[in-house]
Parts: sequence; C-alpha cells; structure tokens
Amino acid sequence: DVPGLVDRFGRVAHDLRISITSACSLRCTYCMPAEGLPVIPRDELLSAGEIGRLVGIAVHELGVREVRFTGGEPLTRGDLVEIVRRSAEAAPGTPLALTTNGIGLDKRAEALRDAGLSRVNVSLDTLDREHFARLTRRDRLPAVLAGIAGAHRAGLGPLKVNAVLMRQTLHDAPALLEWAIEHGCRLRFIEQMPLDADEAWRREHMVDAEELLAVLGARFALTPVGREDPAAPAEEWLVDGGPATVGIIASVTRPFCGACDRTRLTAEGSVRSCLFGDDETDLRGLLRAGAGDDEIAEVWRAAMWAKKAGHGIDDVDFVRPVRTMGGIGG
Ligand code: GTP
Ligand code: 5AD
Ligand code: SF4
Repeated sequence: DVPGLVDRFGRVAHDLRISITSACSLRCTYCMPAEGLPVIPRDELLSAGEIGRLVGIAVHELGVREVRFTGGEPLTRGDLVEIVRRSAEAAPGTPLALTTNGIGLDKRAEALRDAGLSRVNVSLDTLDREHFARLTRRDRLPAVLAGIAGAHRAGLGPLKVNAVLMRQTLHDAPALLEWAIEHGCRLRFIEQMPLDADEAWRREHMVDAEELLAVLGARFALTPVGREDPAAPAEEWLVDGGPATVGIIASVTRPFCGACDRTRLTAEGSVRSCLFGDDETDLRGLLRAGAGDDEIAEVWRAAMWAKKAGHGIDDVDFVRPVRTMGGIGG
C-alpha cells in the first residue's frame, strides 16, 4: 500500500477526474455561458502522453483506483482515443470512465472500447426535443440518442444517464425514466448546484430530490435501497419492485461531502481538490521541467490538504467558485 491522497479531514481520494478540454458541443444553461468558455491554447492543455504519465503516478504512487475523463465535452478532443490508450497503458486494469454529452459517441465508441475505456455516463435531461434545445441551446437531441445507442452496440453499457433537475424539464422525468428502463440505462437525477455561468441558480427555486420523488411517485412505486457504496453520490430507489432502479444525486439537500473520495485535474494540468475549492496546484510545470514521479506525487499529496470540508452552499458566507461546471467537469 502507498501513502494515498489524504486530506485534513481524513478522507482518502481514490477517484480521479480529469478534465481534458473546456470546449463543448452544447451550451447547457446550468453549466456554460451562451458563448462558451474561452478556448484553452493547445500547448496549455495536457497532452495525451502527459495525461498517461499522471494517471500512472496517481494509480501507482497515490492509490487512485478509478479514472474518469470529463470536459467541457471530452469527445471534442481529437486525441481522446489516444488519451484513453495512454492511460490504459500506464495503469493496466484500472477502470477508465467517460462522462460525455454523447454527441459523436456512436462514431468513436468501438475505438474507445478497444483503447481500454470501461464505462460511459451520458448527460441527458429530457426526451422532449424542444425542451432539450432550449436547455442546451442546441437542437441536438437525435445526436445524443444516436451516441447512446452506439455506445451500447460497442459493449460499453450498461450506461448511466445523468439528468440535471430543472424546472422546465421536471415533468419530462417520468417519460425519461420509462425510456431509460426500456433502453437498459441506469438513470440518475441530479440536483442543480450553483455552478452555472449565468448565476441564475437560486436555492429557493431549484428542484430538489423531494419534489422529484413526488413527481415520479405519482407514476411509479419507489422503494429506497440506499447507496451502492458509501462514497457513491447517488441514492437508489427500486422502480415498481425492481430490478430497475433510479438514482438521485442530491448534492445540495443531502450533501455527501463527508464521504467524498475525489481528486481532480484541470485541463491545464492543475490539481483541484474540490468542485467548490478554487485552490489549484500546478503539475504541468513540474512535468515539463522534467520532475520525477516521486516529486510530482508529493506535490499532489500536499495539494489535497487544502480540500474543504464541504461545498458550503447553505452557509451564509457561501461564495461561488470562480470556475463554472464547464471548466471543472462535474
Ligand atoms: P460513477 O462512478 O459512474 O457513479 O460516476 P460519478 O457519478 O462519480 O460521475 P458523473 O461524472 O456521472 O457525475 C455525476 C454527477 O455527480 C455530476 O453531474 C455532478 O453533479 C455530481 N458530482 C460529481 N462530482 C461531484 C463532487 O465532487 N461533488 C459534488 N457535490 N457533486 C459531484
Ligand atoms: N449542477 C449539477 N450538475 C451539473 N452538471 C453540469 N452542471 C451542473 C450543475 N450546475 C452535470 C452534467 C453532467 C456532469 C458532468 O455534471 O449534467 O452529467
Ligand atoms: Fe467532494 Fe467538494 Fe464535491 Fe463535496 S463538493 S463531494 S467535498 S468535491
């Protein structure tokens, strides 16, 4: 056993999430500004080789057990297959996952699987094409559905589908759940966090888990079964006696920060200890200056010490992080 990524509160990070771009093919209102995020110059992004190197260090020197690629939208990077391949080579046997909006996934699912990708989570909030276009500011629902089908054909299923709870799409939730069950997807609803670029989020207006349960409960019999494991963000319910389930990630009303096991890398190669913590510690400079694995691991370990106890959304002195969700990657 190696000394892992422990924070001041005794939590240990086993789950690494790597943002690989700020670019995205959608503009979801809860995540991105209408004009998108500033483009990160190519040489400021970690390369596929650098990502592989850091994945190797995280797994072999820091106790990381699972790696997830996020964005922006990771499929906008032309070298995503290479990123997965380099990561799989650096850490054989470590599960590699992708969180994506699904657009273009059908074309690359087989190559991603062959490169070593294990699992995919796709974000999809509604099956109503007009609601989808309004929420994402792009009329791309058919492309997302094609992506999900392609991932299943390539054997990357069962997929998880993430749906952020928004007032405009709340009443689309039962249809989405029926569709997910029919298509072999594990659906999870997510409480919206104050990480939108427009700062439109309001605690008193957000749709919470309780409100969703009332809407779903009118159509399905729901039996609570708890979390898959203590650090899992979602609580699960059996639907109509099972075996199908639906999950709720109630980050705001039932925070799971106390059990958090995450560490993050930004697309520019800095350690970010928490979604809501603006402290970032650069590793890219060390990598490019020729630092050894031990030195990089030591800096990463120290960076976790800054991790906050929790997101603090309900604190009177809560301040939003500077980065919006699109720049952190969920
Ligand atoms: P699995 O390992 O498949 O369960 O993935 P995951 O749920 O960890 O990852 P995914 O990218 O699908 O994230 C799902 C949702 O969880 C995101 O949309 C976020 O809203 C929320 N989430 C992810 N990471 C964090 C976090 O560190 N803190 C909080 N509060 N919420 C998070
Ligand atoms: N609150 C909660 N979840 C969000 N996501 C994006 N923005 C927010 C937000 N403000 C989700 C996306 C995706 C994951 C990466 O994060 O829907 O599933
Ligand atoms: Fe962990 Fe921070 Fe997310 Fe809470 S908000 S679960 S502490 S990363």
